[in-house]
Amino acid sequence: MSFDLILFGGTGDLAWRKIMPALFQAFRHGSLPEGGRIVGVARDDLSDDQYRALIKSRFDQVELAKRPSEEEFSRFAALLGYLRMDLANPADYAQLAARLQQRPADVVVMYVATAPGLFTTVCEQIAAAGLNGPQTRVVLEKPLGHDLASNRAINETVRSVLTEQQIFRIDHYLGKPSVQNLFALRFGNSLFEPLWRREHIANIQITIAEELGVEKRGAFYDSTGALRDMVQNHALQLLCAVAMEPPINAHADAIRDEKLKVLRSLKAWTPETLRQHVIRGQYAGGSIDGEAVPAYRDEKGVDPHSRTETFVALRAEIANWRWAGVPFYIRTGKRLAGRDAHIEVNFRPAPHAIFKSPLASSNVDNRLVINLQPKDGLELHLLAQGADQRRGGGTSRGAPTLAPVQLDLDFDKRFGSERVGAYERLLLDVIAGRLNLFVRSDEQEEAWRWVEPILDAWRHDSTGPRPYASGTWGPSASSAMIARDGYCWSEEC
Ligand code: BG6
Repeated sequence: MSFDLILFGGTGDLAWRKIMPALFQAFRHGSLPEGGRIVGVARDDLSDDQYRALIKSRFDQVELAKRPSEEEFSRFAALLGYLRMDLANPADYAQLAARLQQRPADVVVMYVATAPGLFTTVCEQIAAAGLNGPQTRVVLEKPLGHDLASNRAINETVRSVLTEQQIFRIDHYLGKPSVQNLFALRFGNSLFEPLWRREHIANIQITIAEELGVEKRGAFYDSTGALRDMVQNHALQLLCAVAMEPPINAHADAIRDEKLKVLRSLKAWTPETLRQHVIRGQYAGGSIDGEAVPAYRDEKGVDPHSRTETFVALRAEIANWRWAGVPFYIRTGKRLAGRDAHIEVNFRPAPHAIFKSPLASSNVDNRLVINLQPKDGLELHLLAQGADQRRGGGTSRGAPTLAPVQLDLDFDKRFGSERVGAYERLLLDVIAGRLNLFVRSDEQEEAWRWVEPILDAWRHDSTGPRPYASGTWGPSASSAMIARDGYCWSEEC
């Protein structure tokens, strides 16, 4: 199967940081179909060779294991080409069409990795140039809009020129091996399913913590914030993966139907829950790994009086039979104490305690942790009979004591070299036409509908985000919120 991949935004950050390295990995692994062409598109005046040289120089900044050797790059470079385009100019799309017609491919992927403001222009122009035929697939990066209305407007325009089957809305968290493992854990085994419900689960916590600040994206981030950047998409997709009903099969729409039901069941906000159950923060200066780092407001491109949140913690509830009354806590932030993404499923304590151990009645060691990054694996925390008792050699020393133990599955170790990175997986899926790990428009709209009242409430709230020192776990109000339910974040328990 031959393919053409047209990368709009071909000289941008995303292109060289994520997309090109992922395409190269797929090439290196031999999984990129033969006979492919990759054409970078941008405004710069570059020849094919100059573009190849640019991409080659950028690979120096990619982590070592993912960097091509000279020989590998020269083979990969044979796939690369470049086209200068002004994305608002119809004549330039005619040029693109001519280039594509030189050698018609079975599949044409249009990857729109540009500023979000250009998404609809590109889609409309592609259609005007007659490039929206059934062989075309369009990949749209997030953020798709900044609220429900703008998201709908984009979706409407895009759907007026392409079918839903041709639209691949990317959320790279869905491509992470750990997230697919979560599906495998839940729907490939029968062990957890009977326990995966309100009768046995006390609460679920989703943490996506980053050590990095806003890096070079200060201006973009300042008009976006953590709620739009991480919660509306990545965190809610994780929530769906953990809370959805088993789909009837593994087809894209069966999975997306179930995710949509979760989003629709999220309890609507009230003025009271908006006040009590949503915490926003903004990083102040501090230190990360012993190095001083600046406050958010001192970052390049950020308004010195900015009220944009770099941290969000919230408490959600899913109003359905499986989850009624079970709190789902989500928190995400930049410049936190570590790079750590995980989901914690806290089971209820044993209903009747026969062991005289304070641990027996807590749920601290009665939990499943799904580690997403930096490591990818599963930890099952249980209580076992402690060392004291064994040393005592019997029952003469009194009641048995309990001690925490942990089953630890390290997927990186187990599957190491066979693993496929998120962007690589998703790019291969686009080429193959598999939509399972992409977001449907109704899911996206539902997620916007749910976060929008938070954005509205913040607009009318004069207090602004709470400052937190870089290198910590965010404002203390986040711990207070969860403590009100009698729980704690994992690092505090
Ligand atoms: C992106 C956000 O979608 O995800 C970034 O825009 C964030 O702000 C990134 O840093 C996190 O992705 P990952 O894969 O590094 O956890």
